[in-house]
Amino acid sequence: MDLKGKVALITGSSSGIGAAIAVKLWSLGANVVITGRDDKRIQQVVNKCHKRNNQRALGVRADLLVDKGIEELVAKTIAELGKIDILVNNAGVGPAIGLRDTTSMLAYDRLTNCYMRCVQVLTQLVVPYLEITKGNIVNISGVSGVKACDLLSAGETYCRLTYHLGRIGESEDVAEAVAYLCSPAASFITGAILPVDGGSFLSPDNIRLFSSLIKKQ
Ligand SMILES: NC(=O)c1ccc[n+]([C@@H]2O[C@H](COP(=O)([O-])OP(=O)(O)OC[C@H]3O[C@@H](n4cnc5c(N)ncnc54)[C@H](OP(=O)(O)O)[C@@H]3O)[C@@H](O)[C@H]2O)c1
Repeated sequence: MDLKGKVALITGSSSGIGAAIAVKLWSLGANVVITGRDDKRIQQVVNKCHKRNNQRALGVRADLLVDKGIEELVAKTIAELGKIDILVNNAGVGPAIGLRDTTSMLAYDRLTNCYMRCVQVLTQLVVPYLEITKGNIVNISGVSGVKACDLLSAGETYCRLTYHLGRIGESEDVAEAVAYLCSPAASFITGAILPVDGGSFLSPDNIRLFSSLIKKQ
């Protein structure tokens, strides 16, 4: 896979999955925009992208919960790198809020703002640039976004039982899938949902365990 000359903007790339995606796309030759709210963490990821000629890793601090922050992120990307080929909407706030948590509608607003409103605002701003480059968008979410349960908190034993591949996922597993989706090799794929979950989405054990955990609560 070769992403030489591409410009990739990856939200939430100052840590976790976003950082792994940024480093992976960088390793394939893309210029990357590494962003989050924490300068130190941004710089640490920028430093992982070892300097190469004609390739840039640009760190931009931006709070996506503020529209102006989103506008500045896009403006800086264009001013410094001139175009956008790849947008990865990855930034996330956790943990999810349980239905029994009656204390925090503020947290709920924050969550929906981050996963929905911010994605909409940023995508609207970036689409005109993607139209020019015939670029692409990858949105990251949990399989709980497709299936209404989130069991990661049940821990290691649970994972061994319910992930068909018998291990928990690493950030790099997601990064590999994103690299493929952004590459010319995936040029006939659009609108697809690709679970990167070691098969847990398919597991009947998953459903059974979830039901028993709910009963125990
Ligand atoms: N980890 C998992 O097991 C898992 C499972 C399923 C789905 N996911 C999804 O994968 C994505 C990444 O998850 P992760 O575990 O890698 O998360 P993470 O390590 O907590 O990283 C979250 C990233 O989002 C950024 N961010 C959060 N709020 C922001 C804001 N208001 N403005 C700008 N940036 C903000 C953070 O940057 P700062 O802190 O510097 O602001 C950080 O870079 C999320 O969408 C999550 O739902 C993760």
